[in-house]
Order: sequence, then structure tokens, then C-alpha cells
Amino acid sequence: MTSEPGIETAAAGLRQQLADRLEKDGRLRSPEWREAVEIVPRHAFVPRFYRESDGLGVTTWEPVTQEIVGQEEWLRLVYSDETWITQFDGRDIDWSDPKPISNAAPTSSSTLPSLVVRMLEDLDVHEGLRVLEIGTGTGYSTALMCHRLGSEAVTSIETDEGVARRARQALARSGCLPHLSVGDGRAGHLRGAPYDRLIATCGFRSIPAAWLEQVRPGGVILTTLRGWMRSLGLVKLIVTGDSASGWFSEDEPSFMIARQQDAPESLGTIPGPDDGTQRRATYGPEVLISAGPGFMGQLAAPDARFFAMPVDGGPVSTFVLDNPTGSFAVLSPTDNGWQVRQGGPRRLWDAIESAVATWEEYGSPSTAAFGVTVSRDAQVVWLGNPDGPQWPLPR
Ligand SMILES: C[S@@+](CC[C@H](N)C(=O)[O-])C[C@H]1O[C@@H](n2cnc3c(N)ncnc32)[C@H](O)[C@@H]1O
Repeated sequence: MTSEPGIETAAAGLRQQLADRLEKDGRLRSPEWREAVEIVPRHAFVPRFYRESDGLGVTTWEPVTQEIVGQEEWLRLVYSDETWITQFDGRDIDWSDPKPISNAAPTSSSTLPSLVVRMLEDLDVHEGLRVLEIGTGTGYSTALMCHRLGSEAVTSIETDEGVARRARQALARSGCLPHLSVGDGRAGHLRGAPYDRLIATCGFRSIPAAWLEQVRPGGVILTTLRGWMRSLGLVKLIVTGDSASGWFSEDEPSFMIARQQDAPESLGTIPGPDDGTQRRATYGPEVLISAGPGFMGQLAAPDARFFAMPVDGGPVSTFVLDNPTGSFAVLSPTDNGWQVRQGGPRRLWDAIESAVATWEEYGSPSTAAFGVTVSRDAQVVWLGNPDGPQWPLPR
């Protein structure tokens, strides 16, 4: 085992390599954030974590500690551009005897540094501005901000008590003393308001009303939006009084959904073979998993989820279910395409096909052609400009 000073020297070298790589990829653009990446010790925030293992079939994660993989490999992994999972299903890990984990949902992590840094660059933040972070997680991104802006300027909210406690300890050990709060970030943190910037490192289904009230006019809200089928990507909103508006980014980064907004456990009732009305489908289920059409599907059916399974030993059908309303669409292959059977108050496949057709009419644009406007009364995603085609976000 290398001595403490040995670890620190090796870690400093790895941080420089990480910074070089992030700069080369265009993620790290300013000397101030580069300095933060070079100084903040990620290994203090992710001393133990889980990584996905390569096996086929069910997703499995295996523990990584100095003892399990050796010190050199542990440190190399810590400073690689990867997301490391630190909690599953909202339960703390028993690190006295860590085991591989499967059939679980990650609920806390240290996000890959390239995404953290890219969002910090996008935040347009500089000394003198005050930031509210939602999703403290391990505290790594919080520490980068403390380094750049000073602890006094940083407030961070974490919903999970155990996660928040560990982040607080790691931050204090690294000399960072931001304002930390345990709670649901959807309520913001009124005591520290108004903020100049708000950055969320978990995904939300829509923009919480409190954020509009707590970020000053001219301030920025940077968050990912997501639904139960997929992420919609990253939006940067400029606050103007009691509304906010802005564009999605070109790529579609994804964060774990805010804990309080996770999909209901039950997918809903599976329709019987004679339920609903049938028609020929224009698009097949592939639209749900391809980039642009999938984004449109998520906008058009914000409460839906889907899965595929064989029906009566026959071909595989895709079931799109909207649990809150009991609406459904079942897509089944025919000799020359697809047929869809729909029922319930929302014609899910009609809505999805209409949204995909609109997207095609507009030249199949990337997410950068879409924006979001949020006010007290309504939240919509629009295409092209705020008066273009619109889809409401769930309230
Ligand atoms: C991807 S992790 C955060 C990564 C973190 N910024 C880092 O650099 O390590 C997302 C975190 O958001 C937290 N979270 C989920 N829902 C939340 C909510 N409603 N309010 C505050 N935190 C929330 C999760 O518990 C989790 O720790």
C-alpha cells in the first residue's frame, strides 16, 4: 500500500490527466474550472463505490474499494470519467461486507466529471454569484463550486439523510463549508434566496414552482428534465419575473429521476385481447427507442411506460400503458407493418404518432431546436420558437 502522501501525489497527477482530457474534449473551457478539477480530491468523495459489471443478462454492479481492487486501480477508477454508484434503492450499503448487487435501482452517485464540469461551464457562474444545487450526492460537484465561488456562495440540498451526512463529512474534511440542507429540492431553500443560479443533478418531470420564486430575475436554472420512458435532456432557463424560458442542449444528458417523482411501481392493468379499438399504425414501436422520435413520444405521453412481450405464444407485442388514466396502446406486427389497439381516455398512440409526424415535418431536428417556457400557470416544451408546436409538461 502506498503511504498517504504517496496517494495524494498520485491523485494529483491523475487529476491533471483528467483535466487534460476534459479540456481536449471541450468540456472544460475555463482556467477557473480547470483549477477546481485539479484541486478537488474526488477520492475523498467516492472512497467506495459500485461499478456496472460486463456480464450478459441482468444488470449487475460490483463493489470497488482499495481493498478489493488494490490501491492503484482504485485511484485510477476514481479519476476516470465515469459515474460511480454509491447507493441503491435508497438503502445504505453495508461496506463491512460489500456484495455484488443486481435487480436494484441506483439512487445516488458521483456523476461522471465531464458532465459535472460541462454543466458548471454552462451555468455561466463567476465569483460573487450565489448558487443553489439540488442533489448534493457525494458532494463532489458541491466541492468544485465551493472551490470556485467560496463556500458561503453555495447552498446544496440532498433528499437522502445518509447521503447528505456523508457528503457533509467529506466536504468538511476537504475544507468546504457550504450551506447544506436535507429535504426535497423541489421546495428549494427559501432561507438562502434569492439565488443567481440553480443547478440540479437529478432529473425532474417539470420545473418546481419554488425555483421560479427563489432564482432572481435574470438568473439561470440549469436542469435535466425527464419522464418515465426516457430523459428529455438538459435545459437552461433564464428567469424573467415569475416565468422562465430557454432551450434544450444538443446532446441529451440524463440523470436519475428525483426520488419523489419516480414512476409508480405498477405499470397498470394489462388490457385484454379484445379491449380497445384497432387501426393500422403509421409507426411501429421502434419510435419509442430511437433518439428523436423517442423524445417526441416522451413529450406526447408523459405518464406512459412501455414493455414488450409475446401474446398467447404468438409474436411479440409492445404495450404502452398510462397508469394514471388506465389508457393503453398495444402494437402488434402484421404481414406488412403494425397494427395498434387503443383504449382509455387518452389515445396514446394517436398522440405519439402526431408528435413524431410534427417532428418530421420540421425536418427531424435535434433537441437543440426545442425549448421550454415555464410560468405559474403552465409549463410547455415548444419546437422552433415559443409560438411553435407545444406539448405540456406534467404538473
Ligand atoms: C446523480 S446524484 C448527484 C451527484 C452529485 N452532484 C455529485 O457530484 O456527486 C443525484 C442525487 O440527487 C438526490 N435527489 C434525488 N431527488 C432529490 C430531491 N427531490 N431533492 C434533493 N436531492 C434529490 C439523490 O439522492 C442523489 O444523491
